[in-house]
Amino acid sequence: MTYQVGYFVGSLSSTSINRTLSEALIGLAPKDLEFSEIPIADLPLYSPDFDADYPPEAQALKQAIGESDAILFVTPEYNRSIPGALKNAIDWASRPWGQNSFDHMPAGVIGASVGQIGTAVAQQSLRAVLSFCNARQMTAPEAYIHFKPEVFAGGEVSDEETAEFLRSYLEEFRDHVERVLTVLPRSDP
Ligand code: FNR
Repeated sequence: MTYQVGYFVGSLSSTSINRTLSEALIGLAPKDLEFSEIPIADLPLYSPDFDADYPPEAQALKQAIGESDAILFVTPEYNRSIPGALKNAIDWASRPWGQNSFDHMPAGVIGASVGQIGTAVAQQSLRAVLSFCNARQMTAPEAYIHFKPEVFAGGEVSDEETAEFLRSYLEEFRDHVERVLTVLPRSDP
């Protein structure tokens, strides 16, 4: 069985280390996970005024989530929480009322920071949001990546211990997705 994983990169930076991490993850993933990025950069700021008529960017966002079997969040920590752009995307996806795209969705959280705690606080903040959105989160292993440029240079993870950790994280994520979908199969979008 192949699973379609839609992934969010929480950063809008053109030099994002979290985008680098997402590319490394795709390279290390088990063959039965297929990844597509769900873009967030062009979303306007969410307002309930849009609920009756979502703009094309937000419709595309909800469609992409609907076509995914699981969602992976790869996010930086901004001021001990997640970047506003990512929270905005989640708010769009969670609405209109009764059409929450994350309901029962298998989800994983990971992030990289240049700081020692590797986005741990942002991830706790994100987990609270996803919990309210009723996503089925993988809770272990946790993955707080202290980003060292030399380890991720050239698109390959040069440190074997880090590569092995990321591989095992992704294998656990695949197993988590399989378990959730066995109990809660997704209907066609
Ligand atoms: C940061 N950074 C940061 N790092 C951290 O470990 N904890 C934090 O709370 C913050 N806060 C924060 C706020 C803002 C507005 C910026 C711009 C940066 C530093 C951050 O980890 C670093 O810039 C990363 O490179 C961000 O990830 P991307 O955008 O490169 O993927």
